Amino acid sequence: MNENSSRRDLLKLASLTTLGAGLADAADSPRPGRSMSGVPFEAKETVRLGVIGVGGRGNSLIDNFGAIPQVRITALCDIVKEKTAAAQAKLEKAGKQPPALYSSGDHAYEQLVARDDVDLVVIATPWIWHVRMAVAAMKAGKHAAVEVPAARTLEECWEMVNTSEKTRRHCMQLENCCYGENELMVLLMVRAGLFGDLTHGACAYDHDLRGILFSKSGEGLWRRDENIRRNGNLYPTHGLGPVAHYMDVNRGDRFDYTVSMSSPSLSLQAYRKDKLPPDDPRQQEVYRNGDMNISLIRTVKGRLIELQHDVATPQPYDRINLIAGTKGIFRDYPPRIYVDGGRGDAFGPLDPYKQKFTHPYWKQVGDLAKELGGHGGMDFVMAYRLIECMRQGTAPDIDVYDAAAWSAPGPLSEQSVAKGSMPMKFPDFTRGRWEKAAQSMPV
Ligand SMILES: NC(=O)c1ccc[n+]([C@@H]2O[C@H](COP(=O)([O-])OP(=O)(O)OC[C@H]3O[C@@H](n4cnc5c(N)ncnc54)[C@H](O)[C@@H]3O)[C@@H](O)[C@H]2O)c1
Repeated sequence: MNENSSRRDLLKLASLTTLGAGLADAADSPRPGRSMSGVPFEAKETVRLGVIGVGGRGNSLIDNFGAIPQVRITALCDIVKEKTAAAQAKLEKAGKQPPALYSSGDHAYEQLVARDDVDLVVIATPWIWHVRMAVAAMKAGKHAAVEVPAARTLEECWEMVNTSEKTRRHCMQLENCCYGENELMVLLMVRAGLFGDLTHGACAYDHDLRGILFSKSGEGLWRRDENIRRNGNLYPTHGLGPVAHYMDVNRGDRFDYTVSMSSPSLSLQAYRKDKLPPDDPRQQEVYRNGDMNISLIRTVKGRLIELQHDVATPQPYDRINLIAGTKGIFRDYPPRIYVDGGRGDAFGPLDPYKQKFTHPYWKQVGDLAKELGGHGGMDFVMAYRLIECMRQGTAPDIDVYDAAAWSAPGPLSEQSVAKGSMPMKFPDFTRGRWEKAAQSMPV
């Protein structure tokens, strides 16, 4: 090989390597579209809803959105015809116009999203359906509001982002925990500087779901399967959403990387041994998901978040909801606070802060929200706020970049666990716009 040909080969290799790197980058961060961050809804006096998935959660969303006078539910879809008919009857009994029903099969939702009297498609189906339904809704010109977690894979996260940018339709995640009374109060305290400069947070979905997972209806029909196929944090957003809001993630900070570890998987096996007959076919299932998964997330600003997932251990419900900084700390379950210069080294109650920091949304609609129930009222506050944004023509509080970033710890934790807790990078779904994006949830 002479010097010239070897140089030519090196240049060729270099250009191939560059091309390869380019392709890898492109796979990680597809071609930029115009951002949907801060894009206002077109203002509407009445918001027309189509709801896909009329199970436990779908019914609760129908009750909460349906309680807002300026909402009209025009269409319902579920593969179980009786569920759509029962929800239709419920709405009629409440004096509403009967919605159109779709239940001809797995793809009946395509007819719902094609209607011309739907502004927002609400999706409350099993997780594997979320993104394809949201994408169909956006491509049909509708905004989409997806239950949690919005996406199960990074590819799905990108598909949501790309479709939202291309169609100029919003794709929101219905993360009700961001609207809890304590969460919104703590958000105000964070913004008032009560905790100083934020350094770390902790959050969880620690919820004993054993009874639900082995039920022969509702989530028992599909959610156990996720625990068979996957090992990681299957349900990250309830804990992470509020902490992401405290830290202005995607609006001045961003999730950078995560490491994750799972415990052995024992509690679902122990439960079914006690509760199911020995010849029940579910006795043969193999659950891969560790009872407890713990992920650590580091943000670009160097902040630390501990994120837990445990739906198998017998335990009281806990989302932790901890936020801490240079001047103090709040943690929930039960709610307690310590601010620098406080009484000794004991936590104090949150109550004394209520008068000053109760969030305006809770002042406006808190009583009705509590009356309706729905996770202590936060379901209604979320519904009310989303409809308010659509009616006033402002941007949603939780946009497609949040839906992607808060869902991403699912697949990233799976990858990290599978690789001996190797660090996994978060894609930047905002494509660099996170530094300048305006703060969400104006207060
Ligand atoms: N935010 C919350 O607090 C909260 C609470 C519960 C559930 N969820 C979420 O809500 C979603 C639904 O959960 P759920 O508890 O209502 O489950 P569920 O099983 O009770 O309801 C799901 C419904 O979807 C229907 N469905 C399945 N495939 C469909 C298809 N192709 N087309 C139309 N309908 C279809 C099922 O028949 C069922 O009625 C999940 O994403 C879950 O994680 C959120």
